[in-house]
Amino acid sequence: MKVVVAYETGHGSTKETAERIAETIRESGAEVDVVQCRQADDISGYDAFVLGTPIWAMKGMGPFRKFMRRNAELLAAKPVAVFVTSGAASTEKGKADIASGVIPKVLSDAPGLQPVSIGNFAGVLNFPAYNLPMRLVMKAIVRSQGGPTTGRHDYRDWDEIIAWAKEVADAFARVCGG
Ligand SMILES: Cc1cc2nc3c(=O)[nH]c(=O)nc-3n(C[C@H](O)[C@H](O)[C@H](O)COP(=O)(O)O)c2cc1C
Repeated sequence: MKVVVAYETGHGSTKETAERIAETIRESGAEVDVVQCRQADDISGYDAFVLGTPIWAMKGMGPFRKFMRRNAELLAAKPVAVFVTSGAASTEKGKADIASGVIPKVLSDAPGLQPVSIGNFAGVLNFPAYNLPMRLVMKAIVRSQGGPTTGRHDYRDWDEIIAWAKEVADAFARVCGG
């Protein structure tokens, strides 16, 4: 089984998460490539797909959305798992808001795609890495959620991420026959 993990990232943390997910699926015996959506050309040779994006202003990142639209037909016909990373998911309420208000929008770019599983993960807030407009936007968003507005905060729960990746590997093996 050939799997691709296609991700987007603004400041690198979702790339690391994608790589950890790929490593876990590889341990199940699958062949797994990792590509950034903005560099992904022809993805038609894969049996199964994991797609991941950070949430930016309540949406997936632009290159991720383009990737979804460009490959919508293919993705509707294959096993696909989707994960998002966000600052909001560092709290239970924020995570629930992402699940109900944001993930449906992320999926709407590829109509017909029915994910075998959806990962809703807390990511990394990285204020020192943001340019000024980004920092202002992020301070406003995070302040309204009651979170910190300076510094770097890594909220990733690796146990949760790895458990999800194992579940996805099992689901792909069931659908693709190993
Ligand atoms: C410009 C920008 C907009 C963001 N918008 C949101 C948002 O609307 N909701 C949210 O929960 N997190 C938001 N975030 C936080 C990111 O989703 C989170 O930090 C993610 O883990 C970043 O992943 P990356 O390191 O791969 O870029 C935003 C971050 C940036 C830089």
